[in-house]
Amino acid sequence: MINISFSIRSIFALVCVVVVTLQSTAQAVKTSAKIEDLVKKMTLEEKVAMIHATSSFTSGGVARLGIPEIVMSDGPHGVRVEHGRDWEADKNVYDSGTYLPTGVCLAATWNPSLGYEFGKVLGSEANYRGKDIILGPGINIIRTPLNGRNFEYQSEDPFLISRMTVGYINGVQGQGVSACVKHYIANNQEVNRNFVNVHMSERALREIYLPGFKAAVTEANVNTLMGSYNLFRGQYATQNSYLINQILKTEWNFKGAVISDWGAVHNTMEALWNGCDIEMGTDLSMLPNPNYGKFFMGDTVLKLVRSGQIPESLVDEKVRRILYVMTKTNMLDGKRMKGEYNTAAHQKTAATVAEEGIVLLKNENNILPLASSVKSIAVIGYNAERKQSMGGGSSQVRAFYEVTPLEGIKKMAGSTSITYSPGYKIERGAKADAALIQQAVDAASKSEMAILVVGWTHGYNYSVWSDNAYDAEDTDKPDMKMPFGQDELVKAVLKANPNTIVVLMGGGPIDMSEWIASAKGIVQAWYPGMEGGNALAKIIFGKLNPSGKLPMTFPKKLDDVPAHKLGTYPHDAKKNLYYLDDIYVGYRYYDTYKVAPEFAFGFGLSYTSFSYSNLKVSGNSKKVIVTLTVKNIGKVAGADVAQVYVHQQKSTLARPEKELKGFQKVFLNPEESKQITITLNEDAFKYFNENLNKWVMEPGVFDILVGNSSRDIKLSGKVNL
Ligand code: BGC
Repeated sequence: MINISFSIRSIFALVCVVVVTLQSTAQAVKTSAKIEDLVKKMTLEEKVAMIHATSSFTSGGVARLGIPEIVMSDGPHGVRVEHGRDWEADKNVYDSGTYLPTGVCLAATWNPSLGYEFGKVLGSEANYRGKDIILGPGINIIRTPLNGRNFEYQSEDPFLISRMTVGYINGVQGQGVSACVKHYIANNQEVNRNFVNVHMSERALREIYLPGFKAAVTEANVNTLMGSYNLFRGQYATQNSYLINQILKTEWNFKGAVISDWGAVHNTMEALWNGCDIEMGTDLSMLPNPNYGKFFMGDTVLKLVRSGQIPESLVDEKVRRILYVMTKTNMLDGKRMKGEYNTAAHQKTAATVAEEGIVLLKNENNILPLASSVKSIAVIGYNAERKQSMGGGSSQVRAFYEVTPLEGIKKMAGSTSITYSPGYKIERGAKADAALIQQAVDAASKSEMAILVVGWTHGYNYSVWSDNAYDAEDTDKPDMKMPFGQDELVKAVLKANPNTIVVLMGGGPIDMSEWIASAKGIVQAWYPGMEGGNALAKIIFGKLNPSGKLPMTFPKKLDDVPAHKLGTYPHDAKKNLYYLDDIYVGYRYYDTYKVAPEFAFGFGLSYTSFSYSNLKVSGNSKKVIVTLTVKNIGKVAGADVAQVYVHQQKSTLARPEKELKGFQKVFLNPEESKQITITLNEDAFKYFNENLNKWVMEPGVFDILVGNSSRDIKLSGKVNL
């Protein structure tokens, strides 16, 4: 019996291998004569050298044929300048660069043209530094507030991610440098990221987790993509036949190269057959004399080809893809664009992203902007003076400079006196420090106003454990409460001086329940990059009107989060992680199941107000045109984001209460109004019907809901398709 089932399994496996082989051959990228010529001239050893790392951030080249090594660099928000080969500092360059706000702040701008500018800075600085691939953008869905890497990612919503990502990739690749969209897929938490085995429905995969990657491939033609560490439905994502061969390379016709996350390959045969093209990682065991031939896609591949266990054509296909990436970025003809570094224009982009990404969450009695008559301010909280650029793990950036909130506030304060007090210590597990709190309370009560700068923090070092990081790679936050006794500090300061503004740093929401009712002003500053302190100060002092909008829901408490309420976070005893929240991620859950958030998806205040009117909806199932008028009815110039959500009234399978399908950021002077047009194509109305295993457009009535957050719908119309 055992033998029979075993042989049935073996036959099945063989059939699968044959099918995959045929598929790979059929989908083999069409390449230019130059690529074919190079492949013909290469020895097997030379080919294999190209499909694995030759140092921590390079993969192999073939010098005799003019094929250079590929040089890669993190990361999503700055060129990771200090690392060259195998963790050594680059020696011949001025080694600090532009530190952009992190991904979540970029997404909070809701401004795709800034996505482009952001990518352009990265591409340009990568060129200057001789890097061929920027390992970003990171676009995993923000599913739980605890994920240590949310700050690098963008949103809980696949549509917002797609729009920002396409801009970013075009920005990078327009400079002749490859982007590498990551981490494909389901790397939505850091806890045990190397082992968790993620299971989700096909519908959740298609509707929530894939669209950002699909847009990166089919709209932005991203040159490279990074497979994630985790398993997906029982197979490591980096060597996952369904994800890579089937979806990425067949359905989406991806022509570029799949790069493994660092050390994410676990099996030579699976990696070779299932679409991984370059195995990256660091040979830690052999440092300082690494031997990258030992990698899964190293010398073993030579043996397998020579013994006839795999065809050489399998290696050729990977080499062709790598050469394709090289031809797309002028690596073979040496016509690399020059690039620029640390320019005023790059710093300006960092500033604009921060200015447009910082979100004003609460502004009771117009406590902000500060009146010019304010004579004294107590700035409180370690985050006010903490530099964040070198923290967080692989996305660390050695910043050319980093203006902290305290520096920014001091610079803009003019004759207003500023006193600073740290209020807490950054020390893993530290509770409230009574003496520091007392100092802060004294400072707050002696000043007219207080500005608390608190929240999460990165570590300074790559090693997250050594430096008390709470927003960092390889670790999740223990809960949604602020660490280091900061709630005690905030409560004490708010009591001592009710004219207190709370500024929150970090990659996402915290539990504010202990003090939110008594805080008049709350600002979400994320990690706002090298110009962050200036941007924040401009908003506080009213030199700039905030226009950032939350790219994720801020729930009231962790228990409300569907991933925690319904899922098996972080995993069960067998390391399985079931996404039982299914398609109900973020506002799709809160709005459908009527769970009140603290601050809704898409929410953000302004120093002015906007009116929405004249909604018109027309069209057919191929194209629906939504027009409306947005007017600035306040006294200062500002920007709002008109968000278009779609809701199908009746469908065979249940659909969320609303789904974002269009948005536009509108900049308006006082009294100015603009008519805006948002076009929805047929994809905006489809959903993935799991019973039929395909996207369907079911005829019927759709509500078109327009507002400036998922919970503030100002106009609604209908369209019958
Ligand atoms: C991270 C990737 C990063 C790579 C190289 C990995 O640990 O998950 O995002 O690009 O390291 O630094």
